[in-house]
Amino acid sequence: MPISYNEKDRTFKIDTEKTSYIIQVYDENYILNLYYGAYIPDSYVPGRAIRAANASFSPADPVMGENGFSPDAAPMEYATIGAGDFRVSALEIQNSNGDNVTDIRYCGYKIYDGKKDIPQLPSSYANSDSEAQTLELYAKDAVTGAAVTLYYSVFPKYDVIARRVSVTNGSSRKMRIGRAFSLCLDLPEMDYDLISLHGCYAKERNIERRRLGHGIQGVSSRRGSSSHVQNPFIALAQRGADEEHGDVYGFNLVYSGNFAALVECDYNCTSRVVMGIDPETFSWTLESGETFDTPEAIMVYTPSGIGEMSRIFHRFYNNNLIRGRYKTEKRPLLINSWEAAFFDFDDDKLVAFAKEAKKLGVEMLVMDDGWFGNRNDDTCSLGDWYVNEKKLKGGLGDLIRRINDIGLKFGIWYEPEMISPDSDLFRAHPDWCVHVEGRKPMLGRNQYVIDMSRKDVRDNIWEQMYKVLSENKIDYLKWDFNRNISDADSALLPPERKKEFFHRFVSGTYDLMNRLITTFPNILFENCSGGGGRYDPAMLCYSPQIWASDNTDAIDRLYIQFGTSMCYPASSMGAHVSANRRTGYETKCNVARWGTFGLELDPTKLTEDEAGIIRRQIGEYHRNYELVNRGDLYRLISPFENPRMAAWQFVSPDKSRTMLTLVTICSEYHRRLKVKLRGLAPDAYYKNEQSGEILSGALLMNAGLEINGWAGQTGDSLVMYFDKTER
Ligand code: GLA
Repeated sequence: MPISYNEKDRTFKIDTEKTSYIIQVYDENYILNLYYGAYIPDSYVPGRAIRAANASFSPADPVMGENGFSPDAAPMEYATIGAGDFRVSALEIQNSNGDNVTDIRYCGYKIYDGKKDIPQLPSSYANSDSEAQTLELYAKDAVTGAAVTLYYSVFPKYDVIARRVSVTNGSSRKMRIGRAFSLCLDLPEMDYDLISLHGCYAKERNIERRRLGHGIQGVSSRRGSSSHVQNPFIALAQRGADEEHGDVYGFNLVYSGNFAALVECDYNCTSRVVMGIDPETFSWTLESGETFDTPEAIMVYTPSGIGEMSRIFHRFYNNNLIRGRYKTEKRPLLINSWEAAFFDFDDDKLVAFAKEAKKLGVEMLVMDDGWFGNRNDDTCSLGDWYVNEKKLKGGLGDLIRRINDIGLKFGIWYEPEMISPDSDLFRAHPDWCVHVEGRKPMLGRNQYVIDMSRKDVRDNIWEQMYKVLSENKIDYLKWDFNRNISDADSALLPPERKKEFFHRFVSGTYDLMNRLITTFPNILFENCSGGGGRYDPAMLCYSPQIWASDNTDAIDRLYIQFGTSMCYPASSMGAHVSANRRTGYETKCNVARWGTFGLELDPTKLTEDEAGIIRRQIGEYHRNYELVNRGDLYRLISPFENPRMAAWQFVSPDKSRTMLTLVTICSEYHRRLKVKLRGLAPDAYYKNEQSGEILSGALLMNAGLEINGWAGQTGDSLVMYFDKTER
């Protein structure tokens, strides 16, 4: 049983194959965390519960008396505000008296097989009840009547625990949640580095690693989306931990809105991690009997380094987060019209693209922005989701028929959460844009955000989308989101609920996405937000792939892809080959083959040589689809650490095949190159597909692969394959 209750010590133990997590119900029903780390057989860890002797002016529990117990010096399982714990809190409830002192104590539990969905929110799932087990821990604030449930769903095979919380108003009066984090974890040390992913438009998810210090540190977004700027992912890595070694804790929030992931290190040199909805831009009013559910946070621990943490996330997301037809079915290789034509296309141009693309081995044409309303640039028409028949002269149905006749599937672009001031929809409903009464809202890319928190607005957008999608044979939909949210307010919200707006907006988006995937289960859905501005686990519940960045330069992509791979699998990473010039097509293709692979160029303008490279590379993509889509990723040489070179490797789950890719960022120096491979079976032999040379897995990993005679000029790349063989 992965979850067990030990009556003697009043402890709950949550085991995965390689990890253990122990919660104790302490005296006076305080809920404490005794352990999270590598598997231990014990269900109790002595000495963890109290550090009263070390307390610093920390108030003591009145029942246990002075020096008995202080929440400020204890490893609190779900820390609350105002009742003796001065560190960053996970829960704040303002009751009808107006004070916000919150104090929850244990009052029961339930353990069951499987995992339940969260009402209205995306989350990970168990493929069968035997794959996961769930612990619900019940706690109550005796004064306010707040009833809190802490959920822990464990996936033993994946070494993952998914956590979330719900708060129910058990009183007869209103209460207001000021913060409700999804996860709180008290670790007994602070000797860690904090790893996070920061960036901006076209430079998403740079890896940043800093030493934890006393006080509060962390990352957050208040932009209305998970954002380009910070990603809802953090890791705590033991000082000196690298890709292969060391304790690493990884945390990833299944949420696309404002978030915070904070770590506080205190005077006892412990660290507390909290992750969830950003408390600065949130509050929620609960009427008597109502419940608020937080989003889910995914928690991973491994003693085997940062690389293994990433692989755990990748395997788990491929199996327990991504869903639908294209979770397992091979996805069509696409060409997208955006960088090829921007807004300047018509039906004939798209058909010409399709004809040439077909010759290259492409399987689907995606018509990007510009097909609707009067949209010839980015100043108008968002919200007018009907076909521009001046551009598509025979209508959409006719265009799709022509594309299908060539042998390609057809995909389309939408930006459903936006409205242009110059649109029929805005003229009909000026109050539908996100705005504050009496203020002129900020513009972003000439557009406003539409109020997705309102059901009437969502219904209108849904009806428009439904018409196009149900009347036409559409195989793919790219869902874009091209600005962040300012002037956050909804005309329908009463004053005390204004800070609910951001969460209601995100929940509204999820509602619309849910309608889409349930009504059109055969449409492949790709998420996008000006590139990778909403690359988060929640979006993976709707779209198996996410456009990683508008930056398609192969060298810049190395950084973006290394960063993205911290927790997101290659199967999800939208990566296209474009016409930009910094590297040749060989390298552009080799880098894009880390992800979903596709084209974002005008195929009628390719030279014969270029078309030849792309055709061959498309063949390589098909041949290695499973290896990249399901294989284990090893980051061998990171561009964040080595200014001259990047290298990575995919290994099939049965270790029978591997693909090694090297890219020269700057050819300053490497006449002789040695790369140590990873993840192979040491006692097996592998044949180099190109040279025929046979070497043991042990040699390739320990002595390393000597690569002599590869010129490796700036922007060059090399791909090598090795297959398991008899000696
Ligand atoms: C965003 C996307 C691009 C493209 C444009 C269209 O920038 O990231 O891929 O779809 O919008 O306007």
